[in-house]
Amino acid sequence: MSDDPNQPNLDPLTLRLAAANALIRRRRTIKPKDMSEKPIENAHLAAILENANWAPTHGMTEPWRFFVFAQEGRQRLAEFMQSLYKKITPEDQHRPDKFDKLGSQPLMAPVVVAIGMKRQEIEKIPEIEELAAVACAVQNMHLTASALGMAGFWSSPPLSYTDEMREWLGLGDPRDKCLGFFYLGWPKDEGWPESTRGPITDKVTMVSQ
Ligand SMILES: Cc1cc2nc3c(=O)[nH]c(=O)nc-3n(C[C@H](O)[C@H](O)[C@H](O)COP(=O)(O)O)c2cc1C
Repeated sequence: MSDDPNQPNLDPLTLRLAAANALIRRRRTIKPKDMSEKPIENAHLAAILENANWAPTHGMTEPWRFFVFAQEGRQRLAEFMQSLYKKITPEDQHRPDKFDKLGSQPLMAPVVVAIGMKRQEIEKIPEIEELAAVACAVQNMHLTASALGMAGFWSSPPLSYTDEMREWLGLGDPRDKCLGFFYLGWPKDEGWPESTRGPITDKVTMVSQ
C-alpha cells in the first residue's frame, strides 16, 4: 500500500468494499422491453443459478426452486399465463393490455426463471424465513447478472400466487409457493439505468444504551 495521498488506496479490504459497493448499487431492474435479442450462454446461466444456490438459509433447508423457461418453453409459459389470467379475472375486470403483455413479455427475454419456494416437510422453519431465503437467492441472481452486464427483472403478477401456477410449475405441495418470475437477458444499447433511494438515516433507529 502506498503512503502517497495521490495514489488510490489499493489495500485488499478497500478494494473488496469498493467492489461490493459498485455491484450492489449498480444492480438495476431492466425490463424485457429493454432487452435485446442476444441469447444467454449456458455458462452465464449456470453462474447465475449457482450463485442463487449460495443464499443464506435457516436450518439449511435451501427452499429455492427455479424453473428455467428458454426458447419454446417461453411460449408455453406465455400461453399458460394468458389462460390463467382469463380464468381468474372476472370478465368485467378483464384488461386486454394486461392479457397481451402476459403473452408477449416472456418472449422478449431469452430466459424467464419462475421462482419457487419449497416448504419444509416438518415446518420447523417459519414460512416467512423460507420466503426471505428465496428472496436472498433472487438477489444473488440479480447481482450476478448485473456483474455480467446482464439485464434482470423480478416480476410478480397476481397470478404468480395462485394454486394453478404453483401446480403447473410442479410445486405439488399446497404449502409451496411461486414468488413470480425473474426475466434475464442483455440490455439494449441504451445505457444502464439509474435509480435513487431515500436516505438510510430515515430507516435506521440506533439503540446504544
Ligand atoms: C419481490 C419483488 C417483486 C417485484 N415485482 C415487480 C412487478 O411485478 N412489476 C414491476 O414492475 N417491478 C417489480 N419489482 C421490481 C421493482 O419495481 C424494482 O426493484 C424497483 O423499481 C427498484 O428498481 P431497481 O431494482 O432498479 O433498484 C419487484 C421487486 C421485488 C423485490
